[in-house]
Amino acid sequence: MIAKLRAGSQNPFKAEAGSRPLLAGREDETRRLTEMLNLLCGKREKWRGPLASGSLPPFHVIGPRGAGKTALLDWTRRRAEERGFHCVSCTGLKAEGIEFSLQKLAANAAGGMTKLDHLRAVLMVKASERLGSGKMRLTEPPFMDWVRSGLRRRPVLLLLDDAQDYDLRLLSRVLWNSHILIGRGWPLGLVMAATPGLDDHLLKDRYLADYTFYERKLRIKPLSDEATREALRAPFAQEGVTLAPGALEAMAAQTDNYPYFIQVVGGETWNEMTKAGRKDVDVKLVEQIKARARIERETIYKDAFRNLVDKELLPQGRQVIAMLEASGGEMPEKEVVKALIAANPGVNNKTAYEICDSLREDGLIWTLGSSTKPGIPSFFSYFKEQDIEEPASDST
Ligand SMILES: Nc1ncnc2c1ncn2[C@@H]1O[C@H](COP(=O)(O)OP(=O)(O)OP(=O)(O)O)[C@@H](O)[C@H]1O
Ligand SMILES: [Mg+2]
Repeated sequence: MIAKLRAGSQNPFKAEAGSRPLLAGREDETRRLTEMLNLLCGKREKWRGPLASGSLPPFHVIGPRGAGKTALLDWTRRRAEERGFHCVSCTGLKAEGIEFSLQKLAANAAGGMTKLDHLRAVLMVKASERLGSGKMRLTEPPFMDWVRSGLRRRPVLLLLDDAQDYDLRLLSRVLWNSHILIGRGWPLGLVMAATPGLDDHLLKDRYLADYTFYERKLRIKPLSDEATREALRAPFAQEGVTLAPGALEAMAAQTDNYPYFIQVVGGETWNEMTKAGRKDVDVKLVEQIKARARIERETIYKDAFRNLVDKELLPQGRQVIAMLEASGGEMPEKEVVKALIAANPGVNNKTAYEICDSLREDGLIWTLGSSTKPGIPSFFSYFKEQDIEEPASDST
């Protein structure tokens, strides 16, 4: 009995955020993030001055729910800490939230709590920071003073997760100030993760619209077939579990190559295995978890579908599914936009792109380069199963 519980508690798959999975199939992303860290550790001008080589603009990690943004940020943070960076992670840049994170930074930077009073003053967003015209004042706001005091000692890495939920005014401040410091060559790294819709949101701020940041987008995609199999295989192998022929394929077939689903399917299979008191997995065992894994996947689809209903985007969702299916599963985004304009009176180029962003936000579609594909392919089938007539408007 104890042995069983122990085995269960060691389930190496975890679907919740903050778990530390094997980061499969993110070689390109981790290579680019490592380059950033290398550069930030580079030679400084004078004594602890700006970097001799200049800094890199921030990274913007973009991906739908559960695609692995937090896991990538977590990976970056660990690598940065190993190399002696000050790291500040924010998961909710709300008026009170940022105080906490920035206090931590200042406390670290000053080597104690001595700067906290000063910091409090910093965080009072003064009306004077924005001039009447809406222009951000270019004098150095205190944010910079103390980020820079940290930067004198060590490189600093700001990690902004779930940025789509932030108070936009605070986010703008942090981005803008960081932008200036980075532009001056200070060893400040910034990695921001958000769902695709944030882009639109940020673009409304005309000072952020041409922020250099837009050059460094990391659009994270579903994993490749090989990476999916590796993400499923390695945790079992590490625990000494044998996978019978076909078992890996049977698990992979339920994941859509989507990181969250990989953890769900791996985790359910692990539980089923320990429940049966086994240390091996075969196709039959994987078949037994199918219904449960489907229910877990559907919780994601349900939310996504509800969001589309709320945004009144079911008709456009249907149209896009139909056009992708008719064109073999892939289309240039421009064509999707054109078709949306043609099919929907009142939709123009701008609103059609916004519709695409909304559909991406919920994982219905995904665009890499200029090519649009299904985001989570099995969400297509779920969408079609739910594709009821839109509720009639109130008959009262
Ligand atoms: N490359 C990967 N290989 C294997 N598992 C991964 C990978 N990336 C993420 N995961 C796992 O998938 C799950 C979802 O990942 P994560 O929480 O990072 O997604 P997210 O994009 O931050 O989602 P959300 O938008 O909901 O915050 C987690 O359990 C995570 O450990
Ligand atoms: Mg996350």
